Amino acid sequence: MKSTNHVLVTGGAGYIGSHTVVELMEAGNKVTVVDNLERSEYKIIEGVEAITGTKIDFHKIDCLDSESLNQLFSQNKFSSVIHFAAFKSVNESVVKPLSYYKNNVGSLITLLDVMKVHQVKDLIFSSSCTVYGQPDHIPVDESAPFKKAESPYGSTKQVCEQILEEVAKEGFRVVSLRYFNPIGAHPSSLIGELPIGVPNNLVPYVTQTAAKVREKLTVFGDDYDTSDGSCVRDFIHVSDVASAHVKAIDYLNKQKENFYDAFNLGTGIGVSVLELVKKFIEVTGVNLNYSIGPRRSGDVEKVYADPKKIHHAFGWQTKYDLGQSLLHAWQWEKKLRNI
Ligand code: NAD
Ligand code: WQD
Repeated sequence: MKSTNHVLVTGGAGYIGSHTVVELMEAGNKVTVVDNLERSEYKIIEGVEAITGTKIDFHKIDCLDSESLNQLFSQNKFSSVIHFAAFKSVNESVVKPLSYYKNNVGSLITLLDVMKVHQVKDLIFSSSCTVYGQPDHIPVDESAPFKKAESPYGSTKQVCEQILEEVAKEGFRVVSLRYFNPIGAHPSSLIGELPIGVPNNLVPYVTQTAAKVREKLTVFGDDYDTSDGSCVRDFIHVSDVASAHVKAIDYLNKQKENFYDAFNLGTGIGVSVLELVKKFIEVTGVNLNYSIGPRRSGDVEKVYADPKKIHHAFGWQTKYDLGQSLLHAWQWEKKLRNI
């Protein structure tokens, strides 16, 4: 049966947004995408069109521009909104905190205002495991308290969640999804991550090193209190992150008004940086130049999700394992570099 949902996806040309648009369309949802292309490229939308065989209803709009959003909402009857649009670099946020608060918090408030005027109640928000900092208990579940944010970026996610919890009382139904470490690319290699400049994140750094764009990967620290001394994270395939959003829409449909809840979106499996590096070499057969360096300031030692809550509420499970995720990341890098 064809779904009657019409979903607005903000930041839909970005990494997680574009994979989510694919999953939404494959599940039969009608989708409209808004993105200002400040941190992405239109060719990703073309990639989505190639995967789905459908022209995307794309609008180059800034989510801080309430007039343009209002116009779009007047022309469409959206059933729900997924709000990905934000800046996401921890380092950059330390240098430009104001622009992070303005864009990440400002765009959410602008969007909520417009949704309220047009009586669109359902919102799925991109939050982050960064809201937990270094949790006291691992795996971390949703009852863990927010620690003081390590960066302005992390702080914007905490503030946005707080706003949403309060604003839900005005008739909204809201879910925040706390992503752990999304990696990989669509199995078709038609869409994937487009890091800007030198990547901060591990997997794009690994694939760029394997592609000889970077000379060497530095593993930041091997003296942590973990099995091999390197940090532990919860790496999750971006298409699995994406599919959870499709489930979140159905979940919100079943809730009463004034609803807010937050869910971890991770695999529940802790993987160390060195384990990931070894798995990459194993699945790709590529020799990776890496060495151990000093710790990176601000890194938490170990964090991975307890995903029980989302499993039970959404009936969602991951489809891809670490090896597949890394292979897809590598296939995407090769495609980008014509290797
Ligand atoms: P991304 O940078 O690839 O995508 C974000 C998209 O939003 C980009 O296409 C950008 O051009 C657009 N955008 C930014 N500000 C905008 C604005 N004001 N108006 C319109 N478009 C705007 O990032 P991503 O990895 O896809 O992340 C999506 C969301 O998930 C973000 O909110 C991010 O903070 C969150 N998140 C990401 C990760 C991760 O590791 N990738 C982890 C946790 C949470
Ligand atoms: C993972 C591990 C590094 C690069 C960040 C944000 C978080 C969320 C996800 C948005 C760490 C190590 C990395 C390298 C390395 N994003 N590493 N060499 O720090 O877990 O989380 O992205 O919400 O908010 O903070 O991800 O990929 O940067 O690092 O050894 O060249 O890999 O030290 O232990 P992180 P990451």
